[in-house]
Amino acid sequence: TPTIRQLLSPGTTANASPIQVNGWVKSVRRQKRVAFAVITDGSSTEGLQAVFTDVGLANRHVSMESRLTTGSAVKLTGVLAGSIGPGQDKELKVQSVDVVGQCDPENYPIMKRDMTTEYLRDYAHLRARTETFAATLRLRDSTQKALQSYFSELGFCYTHTPLIVSTDCEGAGETFRVQAPTSTTKLDQQVDPSSLATNDSSKRAEFFGRPAYLTVSSQLHLEVLAQSLARVYTIAPSFRAERSQTGRHLSEFWMLEAEWAFTNHVDDVCQVVEGAVKRALTQDSTDLAHLRKDLSDDHLASLEKASVTPTWARMTYTEAVDELQKVQRASRLFKFEPIWGSALRSEHERWIADHLVGGPTFVTDYPSTLKPFYMRWNDDGKTVACFDLLVPNLGELVGGSLREERLANLDKTMKIQGMDPTAYEWYLDIRRHGGAPHGGFGLGFERLISWMSGVENVRECIPMPRWAGRMLL
Ligand code: 4AD
Ligand code: MG
Repeated sequence: TPTIRQLLSPGTTANASPIQVNGWVKSVRRQKRVAFAVITDGSSTEGLQAVFTDVGLANRHVSMESRLTTGSAVKLTGVLAGSIGPGQDKELKVQSVDVVGQCDPENYPIMKRDMTTEYLRDYAHLRARTETFAATLRLRDSTQKALQSYFSELGFCYTHTPLIVSTDCEGAGETFRVQAPTSTTKLDQQVDPSSLATNDSSKRAEFFGRPAYLTVSSQLHLEVLAQSLARVYTIAPSFRAERSQTGRHLSEFWMLEAEWAFTNHVDDVCQVVEGAVKRALTQDSTDLAHLRKDLSDDHLASLEKASVTPTWARMTYTEAVDELQKVQRASRLFKFEPIWGSALRSEHERWIADHLVGGPTFVTDYPSTLKPFYMRWNDDGKTVACFDLLVPNLGELVGGSLREERLANLDKTMKIQGMDPTAYEWYLDIRRHGGAPHGGFGLGFERLISWMSGVENVRECIPMPRWAGRMLL
């Protein structure tokens, strides 16, 4: 059975032999001797027009108001014919209909006009039936494929890292803790019973006797694998127990993370990132075009400019703070004072990408005090070899760095940050056994989808969003 996308493609021509089409009724229009229904199966934004000309058929099925209704699931048999109607060059002349899943038209939540994103969030289990949302989900699919082909061409190995982990990669205290079952666990003979979870409440939030978390980033494990496979990447979920209620934060989001050995320059990492993001941005996608159709001219021009600019801007954190301070002195534009040594606030990031540069910008070499322990120290003893990629209309899209391969430096930073080195013994040990200089980055997948498409909030860029205080299904 072909998909509707396949049926509508120019390669498929009208044919007298009957075919079967499966899908959901998007709309029904009845006339005296004929009825039209638009059928969608989620494979493309366009639906297939189904025509019921046989009066008997039309009467039998279309007059059955309660059955062939918007939202119902149908199996149609008919012939694909040329269409004279506007908007489509093919239609299905229906010979028989089988309503395989009824939909009550009175209560179908997706029938309403002008449904807001907030309204649709309440129907997270049905919102994928909307054109926009389905297009966003297909864009995730095509973007993932575009990124995978990019990394494959560069010789990267796609790999899988654990989601249950023993450390907090970012050290930001935003980990969800894993809780093992407290009931009597069936013991494997190999397992030391004393190491298993107990009913002792002080030990409850543990993974069979030791603390465990949902991963906030796959980076540390990718670093391990990069010391064997040299170039690795993954696209995996990350979990953050942060309270942010912004359009850029989720509690569970997907990240593309890459890590590779034998690199000494943070600009190498920036170049790989730029290539990856441009590959996604320039993909040939009707869904992307569909999602962008209501964007302002300025917004479209900004995306177009990003895809054709030969090299995106680079500036150091120190330069960025200087520029921010100049504007602040002249116009007091910012709510938060830009100060060297303080994190760039969202308003600062947006101003850099939107106004100062007017395009994607790599801000490099942040003070070490603002960044996690694993970043490689610069010779100035104050900053680390890292970057954030800031993009217009969004802010931070990617973060990355060279990783500190020198044990003494790692020891020092971990002490400064009050970390327990015993939990990171494996991470440190990899440096003792042919640990090559290396670097990598993490790109927020929902933020990429949001930025490319103009879908404003990352909550609409993932099928089933979770954010602080909200998990519907
Ligand atoms: O800047 P972050 O926290 O960096 C890391 O986790 C590094 N270990 C990545 C690496 O170098 N391998 O996260 C990376 C990116 C951000 O730039 C942002 O795009 C996205 O992940 N991100 C989020 N996306 C949605 N919701 C959240 N709560 C996010 N937190 C980060
Ligand atoms: Mg970051």
